Amino acid sequence: MKGPRRLETERLLLRRPIVSDAQAIFERYAGDPVATRYMSWATHRTVADTYAFLTWSEADWELWPAGSYLIFSRETEGLLLGGTGLAFRTPVSAVTGYVLAQDAWGQGFATESLRAMVELARRTGVKRLEAVCHAEHRASAHVLEKCGFRCEGTWHAHTEFPNLSPGVRADVLSYFMRFGA
Ligand SMILES: CC(C)(COP(=O)(O)OP(=O)(O)OC[C@H]1O[C@@H](n2cnc3c(N)ncnc32)[C@H](O)[C@@H]1OP(=O)(O)O)[C@@H](O)C(=O)NCCC(=O)NCCS
Repeated sequence: MKGPRRLETERLLLRRPIVSDAQAIFERYAGDPVATRYMSWATHRTVADTYAFLTWSEADWELWPAGSYLIFSRETEGLLLGGTGLAFRTPVSAVTGYVLAQDAWGQGFATESLRAMVELARRTGVKRLEAVCHAEHRASAHVLEKCGFRCEGTWHAHTEFPNLSPGVRADVLSYFMRFGA
């Protein structure tokens, strides 16, 4: 089943990105060195980097049941809070993650949007949903655990965090969730 373009939760609207979102994505989080500190992709230097992400996102959505989503506040309609999504590896296996603009931290939005991604994964036929976070990123690990992910261990020297330590592979905590039998 193809995932919907729009999803609603109690406080959030999540929708598939479109090209005209580029400037807002860049300004709200993708170009912010603080918000992107623990990302596995480099902070966007110009909005051209954000357009490149949107081109990739469009192609990904065409290939798979779902892809990236932008997170908006329902209360202040139009205010972009962050990004999340499902990156499919196979039709039954996907990876999720999230990034929020700094002024959106500490209000439970990561937890609320991750729960929406878990439900979306279930509905689109995913059997194993994965997420990794930097071994020292306690807030993110806590969000994953609150949403029912299980930690299967630490992967040593696994992922480069280019905004934290370029060229170095850092330890990550590997989380997963299984659906169905
Ligand atoms: C990490 C991030 C996603 C958290 O988003 P958020 O919306 O503030 O998260 P929530 O409010 O849903 O939940 C955060 C939880 O972690 C807890 N927390 C915060 N800092 C913590 C810390 N240093 N150690 C342990 N727990 C911490 C909070 O108390 C909260 O738990 P609670 O609801 O049980 O009190 C957000 O800060 C962010 O986008 N950061 C930048 C991008 C990023 O790092 N993404 C994750 C990459 S793996």
